[in-house]
Amino acid sequence: AQTSYAEPYRPQIHFTPKEKWMNDPNGMVYHNGTYHLFYQYYPGATVWGPMHWGHATSTDLMHWQHQPIALYPDTLGYIFSGSAVVDKNNTSGFGKNGQIPLVAIFTHHDTTGEKKGRNDYQNQSIAYSLDNGKTWTKYAGNPVLKNPGIVDFRDPKVMWYEPQKKWVMTLATKDRITFYSAPDLKNWKKESEFGDKLGAHGGVWECPDLFPLDHNGKKTWVLIVNLNPGGPNGGSATQYFLGDFDGTTFTPSDTATRWLDYGPDEYAGITYSNTGGRKIFLGWMSNWLYADKVPTEKWRSAMTIPRDLGLKQIDNNLLVVSSPSKELTKIQSKSVALQNLNVTKPFDLSTKVGQVSIPCRIDLNMDKAADFSIVLSNDKGEEVLIGYDHNNSQYFIDRTKSGKVDFHKEFAARHVAPRFLKNSKMDMTLVVDVSSVEMFADDGLSVMTEIFFPTKPFNKISIQSADGVLIRKLNY
Ligand code: FRU
Repeated sequence: AQTSYAEPYRPQIHFTPKEKWMNDPNGMVYHNGTYHLFYQYYPGATVWGPMHWGHATSTDLMHWQHQPIALYPDTLGYIFSGSAVVDKNNTSGFGKNGQIPLVAIFTHHDTTGEKKGRNDYQNQSIAYSLDNGKTWTKYAGNPVLKNPGIVDFRDPKVMWYEPQKKWVMTLATKDRITFYSAPDLKNWKKESEFGDKLGAHGGVWECPDLFPLDHNGKKTWVLIVNLNPGGPNGGSATQYFLGDFDGTTFTPSDTATRWLDYGPDEYAGITYSNTGGRKIFLGWMSNWLYADKVPTEKWRSAMTIPRDLGLKQIDNNLLVVSSPSKELTKIQSKSVALQNLNVTKPFDLSTKVGQVSIPCRIDLNMDKAADFSIVLSNDKGEEVLIGYDHNNSQYFIDRTKSGKVDFHKEFAARHVAPRFLKNSKMDMTLVVDVSSVEMFADDGLSVMTEIFFPTKPFNKISIQSADGVLIRKLNY
């Protein structure tokens, strides 16, 4: 069962560890009606340390059950990020008597080798479970993919490539991606490299993902590459490429750098495996700039809400769109629908819906683009502004005066994301929790995730617009 939800800043509808340090989501796999979420976990402190894989499960992507730690560090090293697959054909041979194994593929990070100044201390290993992810056995032949001498060599994301009946591993290798393949999850061979002179390179490439998405009957491959630092609003962030994959090579369709989430607080995001054509994305809701300094005492960090990914064409540009996973409609706490709200002076939502409660979800629709902001606030004058700046065609989130901000010099800031639509109607969905907001604008073309720490919980939501805005529909 979940832990106490009454502590300051404890998210109510986002996954958090009961206690201690968490970073990346790992091994996300859907199996037998259960969504598994493993995660980078250090049970010894509220700062990063020897990495384990923590474990939680959910059947609805909203309520999570804590499970015992799945993988512990061992003589080969800490257990870094990676993925998990359902080995339906038992290609690994780990299944006995017709059992279908779950196989986790992860990085072993050997601190001894690191201290000795070697550069091959990150290697890929596997473990399997024959009891639906409850317990895991590490493969005796680990590591299965040895490091050729690249210091950053990690975060394997594995998928089944049906046309050639083989597993494909997408691996972050310093400042590019290397693809490997194996028939059995054990014998990996290099296929190709990607990323030379392409994409954002302000930091090291980490936590990649590769999967196809359907757009009007046409398959487009998405290559996600997390980057730290070098994000559009500072620190860590998630970029992606679109193109084609033939089992060996990823060929990008253009040279553009695209961002899945422009906010500072979505990182290491990748998708669930074994969900068919549906792609569910989830990230770590923090930033390496200040993740170990945020003012929570018992635990550190939450995950974003799960998001459904799709593709949308804007002029000649194809983009990935994200929206809160369809299961999350349940967040709508009061189900109040307002129509034709003409906001010419600050409008306090409670005058129409009664006392607002957080967590909540707000959906807005407007006939045309206009300046506005939604303000979360308390009676101490602390606030977070989420809105649109029409002159600059930018969405923004401003947490400059959001309460506790001085734990890191870059935390108090106003962040922006471009708007991709022009001269057309506008929509925005906000998912607000006790210490975070996730903004999905224009059907999820522009996405921003931000965390905040007011000294007293926000209990007021208002809408402001200097020039006035007509909100056609507001669902709360
Ligand atoms: C990304 C990351 C991964 C690594 C893990 C270690 O946040 O740095 O590249 O596997 O965290 O905890």
